[in-house]
Amino acid sequence: MASQAAFQRCISPGCAATFDITDVRVACPRCGSLLDVAYDWQRVAVPDRLDYFDSVYSRADPLRMSGVWRFWELLPFAPRSSIVTVGEGQTLLQQADAVAQYVGLRPGRLYLQYEGLNPSGSFKDNGMAAAFTHARLVNARRAACASTGNTSASLAMYCSVTRLMKAVIFIGSGKISYGKLSQALDYGALTVQITGDFDDAMARVREASGKLGMYLVNSVNPFRLEGQKTIMYRVLEGLRWEVPDWIVVPGGNLGNSSAFGKAFAELFELGLIPRIPRMAVINAQGADTLFQLVELRRLAWNGGDFDQKLVSQFYAEMDAAQRRASTIASAIEINRPVNLPKCLRALETCQGVVRCVSDQEILDAKAKVGAGGMGCEPASAASVAGAKLLRQQGIIEPTDRVVCVLTGHLLKDPTATVAYHTTDQKQFNEVLGARGVRRASFANRAVVVRNDLEEIIRAIELYS
Ligand code: F0G
Repeated sequence: MASQAAFQRCISPGCAATFDITDVRVACPRCGSLLDVAYDWQRVAVPDRLDYFDSVYSRADPLRMSGVWRFWELLPFAPRSSIVTVGEGQTLLQQADAVAQYVGLRPGRLYLQYEGLNPSGSFKDNGMAAAFTHARLVNARRAACASTGNTSASLAMYCSVTRLMKAVIFIGSGKISYGKLSQALDYGALTVQITGDFDDAMARVREASGKLGMYLVNSVNPFRLEGQKTIMYRVLEGLRWEVPDWIVVPGGNLGNSSAFGKAFAELFELGLIPRIPRMAVINAQGADTLFQLVELRRLAWNGGDFDQKLVSQFYAEMDAAQRRASTIASAIEINRPVNLPKCLRALETCQGVVRCVSDQEILDAKAKVGAGGMGCEPASAASVAGAKLLRQQGIIEPTDRVVCVLTGHLLKDPTATVAYHTTDQKQFNEVLGARGVRRASFANRAVVVRNDLEEIIRAIELYS
């Protein structure tokens, strides 16, 4: 029967029955053995040497294997020989029509940039590859960061894989999701948990790095942002080098938004793009410094001469009111964004706007993203919730081409996801109720069935 180059074949030599590739079987219908996929190699153009694959796709060459270093010419701060990579940036731009409908965009107009596909599960690896390349140039031996979880996971991974530096990470107490904490611990980073939140940890790591000469890899490190520029290069690549109308990104420490603005300013200056897209930076309501300053108090870059007094006054009021960042989107639970000035510059470059969204909106958007694609962690879904808000406000048009950046993988924060979908009211209240989340409008609840075939079949027919 094997008239095709590929077919299925029973593994039992005495039987060796063959079946078409399109047959759906898990066992040989004649003898009950397992099946193999088999090939008639005579009919396939097989290369005669394995190094043929080098010419197609060489993992030995970082300039090909890394989604960051493929764009080396646009971040040429280090010789090619010192490049560090663990295979970051193999990410995907997906047209997401189901999510577009939720946001209020026409089919074909919303794209999701999945940065959760990076080796450590977040966009941070783009920047870490660049920071490590620089650290190698300057012979750094110990690297430090404060983190809401993803920077630390990325740093710890780059240390454990490359062995170039030892990782020291600072985290706030109880502030980091289990997915992220488990990464730092498993990769062997020295994990310093301080009493306080991210903003406290950030202040301390700066002091400690200064004293101990540790190489700081938070996004105050300008090389980190060089790597993160490539997220936008890959977006453009995914759109066949056409410029979208909007880039929507969650805002925490404001490294991404700063890097994206720089990427577009440079591409425009180099004459490589005809125009610059607009950018929306989305805060969580419980950590909305950028929104407060830019949209309510009208802080602007102003050619570099921005109103520093306004910023100091805002922080003084925040401290006086003892206001702390608080959101289910723990990755962006930050009240003192270190890249504020660079972000103001990027907002000017991209005619940007800033919005904030509630934890309820974030989790609903997150469930829609999961149901319509690969899923993301809560902070990432702020971009989609923000796009929806900007559509409602008429700032984004239904026909605009919009790219939402999904910054981190779904598995980073299983606690929030499971609590949203749960039927257990206690679990819902403990994790989400305390955050003002009242409903799980798009919950996909597990169906509980007795271990009984009849009942199982009835449940499947009822619900599927
Ligand atoms: N999304 C995720 C998943 C993040 O982890 C972060 C930041 C952001 C968005 C915000 O990005 O800082 O460039 O505005 N996480 C940092 C960390 C703070 O420590 O992992 P940003």
